[in-house]
Amino acid sequence: MISQAMTKKPAYYFTPGPAPLAPEVLHQAQAAIAPKQGPSILSLSHRSSAFKDILEAISAQCLALLGLSDQDYQVLLLSGGASTQFAAIPLNLLHSTSDAAAYYLSGHWSKKAFEQAQSYSTAHAIDATQDSITIPDHAQYLHQCINETIEGIFTPALAHHKLPLVGDASSMLMGQSIAHQDFDMLYACCQKNLGIAGTTLVIIKNSLLEICSDRAPKTLQYQTQAQKQSCYNTPDTFSAYVCKLVLEWISQSGGIAHFDSYNRTKAQRLYDFIDESDFLFNSIPKSQRSIMNIPFHLKDTALQTPLIKHLEHHGIYDIKGHRSMGGFRASLYNAISLEAVDHLIATLEIFKDEHD
Ligand SMILES: Cc1ncc(COP(=O)(O)O)c(C=O)c1O
Repeated sequence: MISQAMTKKPAYYFTPGPAPLAPEVLHQAQAAIAPKQGPSILSLSHRSSAFKDILEAISAQCLALLGLSDQDYQVLLLSGGASTQFAAIPLNLLHSTSDAAAYYLSGHWSKKAFEQAQSYSTAHAIDATQDSITIPDHAQYLHQCINETIEGIFTPALAHHKLPLVGDASSMLMGQSIAHQDFDMLYACCQKNLGIAGTTLVIIKNSLLEICSDRAPKTLQYQTQAQKQSCYNTPDTFSAYVCKLVLEWISQSGGIAHFDSYNRTKAQRLYDFIDESDFLFNSIPKSQRSIMNIPFHLKDTALQTPLIKHLEHHGIYDIKGHRSMGGFRASLYNAISLEAVDHLIATLEIFKDEHD
């Protein structure tokens, strides 16, 4: 009799998030939910020393991986997604709605952050399509989205400005080497490269933390959460545990330098295939292309549904582009293997041959 394991077809998920975890992480998380002995991680008290150790490990691993000093930066683990931070940022970094901030608009998520900031500040939009950037003199911070997950656009640190720089790093943190030290604050929801949904990492410079406002609700106040070691309210303890496992896995695998190189190899392979093919295209200028999220389109849009069916038949899922963009998008976070990318390319090749 053929065992079930032998008949199971491999499946590859290119989801933009919540994204697949590395198998090692998944196994450890699974074992911690229902241990052979002792309490489950799901009922670990956030006041216990074991949970305190988890938070301390996250903070230490995170700063070590990013090359930032614990003398200069604090790591907060906050409930809610990155969208919660879109409101928390102006509420913490500005003291009144008449205070100003500048938002560099490079795509969907930076626009969302800007729209939220308009409710709590005088937010100024800076159009990323313009050659030179002018920041209003009275702005108190500059916000950018480093990797636009939907459009697949990467923007390096806009560091030449004197303002505190705040970066939405949701879809690239720990997956790409950038000038982390140029940011006064970085934040990233965990469900892409850092674990599972429900929690956002905020890495903030002490000099910025010290001048934060207290006008946000307590749970969103950076100073309150820093004083309470991210436990003013009951944090998402399981999400924190998975984040710790992911950070350990990243460290053991060779850190950000390893994943930067691995992710570039994966992305380059797929971009090369798209650029050289006569049936697909990606219209983002090469200098701005993301290595984490790679959108592509069919030249003949009538083939969209047949291609999706073909990909699913070959075990490739969650690769449809965002509804605002159409087409396809392959998200290649750290846990996505080169083998998965090669399988995708080979499968696209078969489709092309069948439709030539
Ligand atoms: C770059 C970026 N910022 C913010 C968000 C919003 O995150 P959340 O859904 O966790 O609020 C996302 C989600 O995909 C994202 O990709």
